[in-house]
Amino acid sequence: MFNTSEGEITLINEETDVSFPTVTGTEGDIGIDISKLRTEHHRITLDYGFANTAGCRSSITYVNGDTGELRYRGYGIEDLAAKATFPEVAYLLINGELPTKVELEDYEAELRRHTLLNEEMKRMFDAFPRGAHPMGILSAATAAMSTFYERYHNPRDEASVKESTIRLMAKLPTVAAFAYKKSIGQPYMYPRNELDYSSNFLQMMFGLPVEPYEIDPVVARALDVLLILHADHEQNCSTATVRLVGSSEANLFASVAGGMNALWGPLHGGANSAVIAMLTHIDEDGGDVDKYIGKAKDKDDPFRLMGFGHRVYKNFDPRATILKDYAADVLDRLGVHDPLLDIALKLEEHALTDDYFVERKLYPNVDFYSGMIFRSLGFPVRMFTVLFAIGRLPGWMAQWKEMIEDPDTRIGRPRQVYAGYTERVFPSVDER
Ligand code: CMC
Repeated sequence: MFNTSEGEITLINEETDVSFPTVTGTEGDIGIDISKLRTEHHRITLDYGFANTAGCRSSITYVNGDTGELRYRGYGIEDLAAKATFPEVAYLLINGELPTKVELEDYEAELRRHTLLNEEMKRMFDAFPRGAHPMGILSAATAAMSTFYERYHNPRDEASVKESTIRLMAKLPTVAAFAYKKSIGQPYMYPRNELDYSSNFLQMMFGLPVEPYEIDPVVARALDVLLILHADHEQNCSTATVRLVGSSEANLFASVAGGMNALWGPLHGGANSAVIAMLTHIDEDGGDVDKYIGKAKDKDDPFRLMGFGHRVYKNFDPRATILKDYAADVLDRLGVHDPLLDIALKLEEHALTDDYFVERKLYPNVDFYSGMIFRSLGFPVRMFTVLFAIGRLPGWMAQWKEMIEDPDTRIGRPRQVYAGYTERVFPSVDER
């Protein structure tokens, strides 16, 4: 079955007497099932970054990196962003189907019922240093929430899982807003349950107890759309983390907290704030876009064009396409002129005609324009990744639930190719 030469193993094909089963997805993806490779053939695969390795079968989100398509449960992201609300999309991701009118009303009512945090949680926010990064607070508070809901920890109990998904969805905006208020020394704002999901979050973020807060419908809808665009993206770094943590049957809160920490990094969800830092830096340095394109291409320079490139999209990221138009529209409707948008547009234009970026198929990703909109809506840069986390939460929970319900799930435990010393004799401390 194998043709081995010069350290290379060639897998001949399926006509030989030993073959591997293949699994074909509903969109024609073909996976080679190598689960018997080690036990039957004493080989393992080496795949840094899991770039060629599927860790599961999933029916939640479809991404086609060549055609730039993204669908949640079969529905195109363009339709969802234009016609749905964020809770509606969360329901779709978690339950598999769009809610009926009554189901949606019931779901929204459930979310409203659980927006408050246990008062004891407030002491935890107080314990963080002033100026603590809100992502650190968010993941710590999410893990801490598990201690208040231990009775819902059993991943095999459907009712407990449902309760946990509702509590997490309902409370995460409250946690995020408390983390922000703590960081700026303002009083915590309690949820107002007559408001919709995004409006309620806005009033907890920007309201003050001493005066009424007026919700701007343009801002509330823009936030809702951004949350929809971030809601799931199949097996990305943070989602794979949620699945990996959950595969040990750790509870949903603990698994999601793990995903948040993975999201924080600048190569993943942290890229949205890194983009603004980069654009600000370019602006302050005189706005010379060519200089930074040159730096991004220079292999001796660690600078990368943040918000560019994607592991899967090799054509365009449909979320970025929606956001580019949306950014211009929202800024216009809010009457904001942001010089960083001009730099962003110039950078994109230059990069898209530069051989380096064209050859490597590097296009703007979701984070390139999302930060511009978050900024125009009044969010501070350090909150951007928190907003991504609020958006991604339904995806993490849907993927966790799917993993738990899949009879083929096993604890995640990758192999390694050991490259260290072979056995050595232990020298006493005097002999070293
Ligand atoms: N600027 C300059 N060069 C780049 C960039 C970039 N942003 N991204 C990739 N490259 C080059 C890279 O140096 C490599 O070149 P070569 O083949 O000559 O060595 C080639 O393109 C392939 O890149 P890679 O790093 O092997 O690709 P990857 O799939 O491992 O990484 C990525 C994907 C998104 C981490 C990477 O493109 C990157 O670091 N982008 C900047 C950070 C960013 O915007 N992240 C957000 C990702 S989308 C949303 C999310 O997940 O949160």
